[in-house]
Amino acid sequence: MKPVRKAVFPVAGMGTRFLPATKAIPKEMFPVVDRPLIQYAVDEAIEAGIEQMIFVTGRGKSAIEDHFDIAFELETTMSARGKSLDVLASTRLGPGRCAYVRQQEPLGLGHAIWCARDLIGDEPFAVFLPDEFMHGSPGCMKQMVDAYSKEGGNMVSVLEVPREKVFAYGVIAPGAANGNLTEIKGLVEKPKVEDAPSNLIVSGRYILQPEVMQVLDKQETGAGGEIQLTDAMAQMIGNQPFHAVTFDGARYDCGSKVGYIEANLALALERPDMADDVREIAKSLLGQ
Ligand code: UTP
Repeated sequence: MKPVRKAVFPVAGMGTRFLPATKAIPKEMFPVVDRPLIQYAVDEAIEAGIEQMIFVTGRGKSAIEDHFDIAFELETTMSARGKSLDVLASTRLGPGRCAYVRQQEPLGLGHAIWCARDLIGDEPFAVFLPDEFMHGSPGCMKQMVDAYSKEGGNMVSVLEVPREKVFAYGVIAPGAANGNLTEIKGLVEKPKVEDAPSNLIVSGRYILQPEVMQVLDKQETGAGGEIQLTDAMAQMIGNQPFHAVTFDGARYDCGSKVGYIEANLALALERPDMADDVREIAKSLLGQ
């Protein structure tokens, strides 16, 4: 079984739910407290042992490339003023560890992943949707890589949502379950509530075998006229093992405004340097 050494971060979406904030700033650069979403995702990948980060970007996303580069003026000025550069350490991934490929048109998540096909080659790879902020220890991808080392095949992370909310997500048809691992018998993108095979939704982390690229080669469109990753994965079920890993941790949907505010509040309330102040502010805003 080949190890998971590469990760794809599709960051070429338009972020229309967050306009006008996303007009000039990628939503993946929005901070949760003081770190951008993309940084949390990359840290999660590194914790899981992943070595190469592949970003699928688009026009207007250059802030992401700058974030993982040396900031010469900033670093020189900070050093000259005797300030520590430790706060920037996690933004330095080292030479050759980042690759960027452009998705020229946002034709869907499946299409974004397909744009990385030559960089992936013949290896299994992880996919991170950075606006789905997975918060836990060990991180979501570490939990998945641990499961992968026993089972191999393809993996998606899942979580339960109230049934009436499934229409907005990819939903699995579950088979046999064993601990945090559930066999996947089918996948459907954005089903009607009455047609949904379960209330277990796919939640932004995947480990996929390279054969998924051959399915994506067909460029078939699905829900919303987009090339859907879920549809490509669904076509592989039966040919390759497919499992869902139920993430032990919290997930915040930072592609939505309410989810993003929730993530900021939750993380601020965990931070020793600000939790007391934030709790007092929240209480006062709530009139308590
Ligand atoms: P989303 O649907 O959450 O992102 O896609 P979006 O399209 O940017 O957001 P809205 O719905 O317009 O507000 C999930 C992930 O897939 C990427 C997005 O950048 C996000 O990280 N994506 C989506 C692409 O890279 N390319 C696409 O064509 C679509």
